[in-house]
Amino acid sequence: MRFWLTCNVLLFLFITPLLSEDFISKMEYAKMLYSNPRGIGCNKCHGEKGEGAVISKYSSKNRDVVLEAPNITTVSKERFFQALTSQHRVMPTYFLTWQEIDSLYYYVSSEVKK
Ligand code: HEC
Repeated sequence: MRFWLTCNVLLFLFITPLLSEDFISKMEYAKMLYSNPRGIGCNKCHGEKGEGAVISKYSSKNRDVVLEAPNITTVSKERFFQALTSQHRVMPTYFLTWQEIDSLYYYVSSEVKK
């Protein structure tokens, strides 16, 4: 009885680090993709957490123009997928898989990120 208990403890001690060390979490992967989505990082325009940011300010025809990337943390999943599979005026077009878009959505919509 005691022998089996010792075996289990040893197995646990050796196996656990093997299983956990080399793998990155779903959130770590999603965060990496957010700043490097095979193209310009989403963070460059939408901010580190998708909160939205001012891209640039300039004057045109004597008017001040503020170019902004919207907050994307509260966008619905449908709208998020739609935005990443269509063309925009300012935002570049990406060629991401459904899984990648899903990861990006997970990252920006998650309450527990970072
Ligand atoms: C060059 C700046 C820029 C980059 C880079 C960028 N976006 Fe955008 N994004 C915008 C702007 C500006 C809009 C508003 C639509 C437009 O004018 O293009 C937008 C719109 C969106 C929307 C739609 C928001 C809504 O309310 O419907 C989503 C979702 C989105 N972006 C997600 C992303 C993700 C995810 C990435 C990275 C893969 C990304 N964007 C990269 C600038 C950017």
